[in-house]
Amino acid sequence: MKKNEEYITSIIDNGFQGEGIAKIDDITVFVPNCIKGEKVKLKILKEKNNIAYGKVIEVIERSENRVDGSIDCETFFKCGGCTLRHMKYDYTIEMKKNAVQTTLRKALNKDIIVDEVIKMDNPFNYRNKLQYPIGIDKNGNYKMGVYTSRTHDIVETQNCFIQNELIQKIANDIFAFIKQERIVVYNEKDNTGGIRHLIIRIGKKTNEVLVTIVTNTEKIGKEKELVSYITNKYSEIKTIVKNVNNKNTNVILGNKNIVLYGNGYIYDYIGEFKFKISAMSFYQVNPVQTEKLYAKAIEYADLSGDEIVFDLYCGIGTIGICASKKIKKLYGIETISEAIEDAKENARLNNINNADFFVGDVEKILPEFIMQNNIKPDVVFLDPPRKGCDKKALDTLLQIKPKKIVYISCNPATLARDLKLLSEKYEIRKVAICDMFPYTSHIECVTVLCLKEKI
Ligand SMILES: C[S@@+](CC[C@H](N)C(=O)[O-])C[C@H]1O[C@@H](n2cnc3c(N)ncnc32)[C@H](O)[C@@H]1O
Repeated sequence: MKKNEEYITSIIDNGFQGEGIAKIDDITVFVPNCIKGEKVKLKILKEKNNIAYGKVIEVIERSENRVDGSIDCETFFKCGGCTLRHMKYDYTIEMKKNAVQTTLRKALNKDIIVDEVIKMDNPFNYRNKLQYPIGIDKNGNYKMGVYTSRTHDIVETQNCFIQNELIQKIANDIFAFIKQERIVVYNEKDNTGGIRHLIIRIGKKTNEVLVTIVTNTEKIGKEKELVSYITNKYSEIKTIVKNVNNKNTNVILGNKNIVLYGNGYIYDYIGEFKFKISAMSFYQVNPVQTEKLYAKAIEYADLSGDEIVFDLYCGIGTIGICASKKIKKLYGIETISEAIEDAKENARLNNINNADFFVGDVEKILPEFIMQNNIKPDVVFLDPPRKGCDKKALDTLLQIKPKKIVYISCNPATLARDLKLLSEKYEIRKVAICDMFPYTSHIECVTVLCLKEKI
């Protein structure tokens, strides 16, 4: 098999990123944008060690799970975001369910059935947060959009189907102003220039907008003019923050924030609870599904009101606060200090007096806290980032043995790894998927684990 050779072949499966999988002469070929059961003409892009990567030239026999007509998104073939956009929504759900079941089966050596998949009624324009790099291409043209898959070339994105429409409009207008006024933007190659990212968040329930302009240099050209132009145009913008990041890194946000307009934060509601959101804090990106995700986690926790509950990796305190009326005492731990400040403020805002929040890494703070205070949780909410829990954190849980652990995960692979460790003393009772990221390959799970009886 050689580069640029063309083959007609059947797609025998889909991988976890949604990519089609074919077998040609014992070589496994990964081909994006095709579906199990389809017959396609493909071109080989690369082959090494019996694994090849290809590109579809023509779909000869279409799957019934392919969307009718052509794909509506202009940037689909370049952007690495919605890798499942060519599939019907219900099929993407089936794929996610299979992916979770297969991953858990492999790790735990037994069949784990996903009990429920919580879909979106309307799986479009769901994101409350937009995050676009801004830069200049090799011809000197200003660009704002998303990085093309596996590169740092920016593909211009004016209309993203999963983005909230108002924040997309605001981003387009800010970018048009930057372009028109020739405000200096970032040049990644030599780490020079100014504006490098635009991050815009909206409170779905309040319609309040927070704009964060990430910049390499503390000074931005025409800063006052930009702020006054955009805030005059959109009354929804409640605050604008300048975030300084002068490091040549993939990490988007720097540590220094300068408020250019408003208070530096916005509010949103999850159910009946009000939350303060600032530029640095983690806040779930799909507000419609967040309510369902938290409701499922709280249902799985099955709280009576007498329990001590730990909300680990608590962000701005959202899960614990949403469950607080059914909790005797809540303790939250989170590594970002601004998020903990927000969590404390959020407890005050909602008149919650049974919560304490602590800054630090769970793996460090959790054992220290238990040693110093001799307090053990009855129930634990675990909601780590994609890399999952640190082993030390899980070892602590295995030692202190809370009756129940509700594990919320955005990465089935690390979930499976961590469940394997916890399964020494815990039984996996239920697993649900909440589709937080429709049309992307990302999967969010909620799992409830109960302490085995004879431990
Ligand atoms: C998936 S988010 C969940 C946040 C929150 N539970 C929510 O639903 O909004 C994971 C959180 O873990 C925090 N985090 C990452 N590593 C951590 C660690 N080692 N210890 C404590 N918090 C950590 C991140 O800052 C982030 O807020």
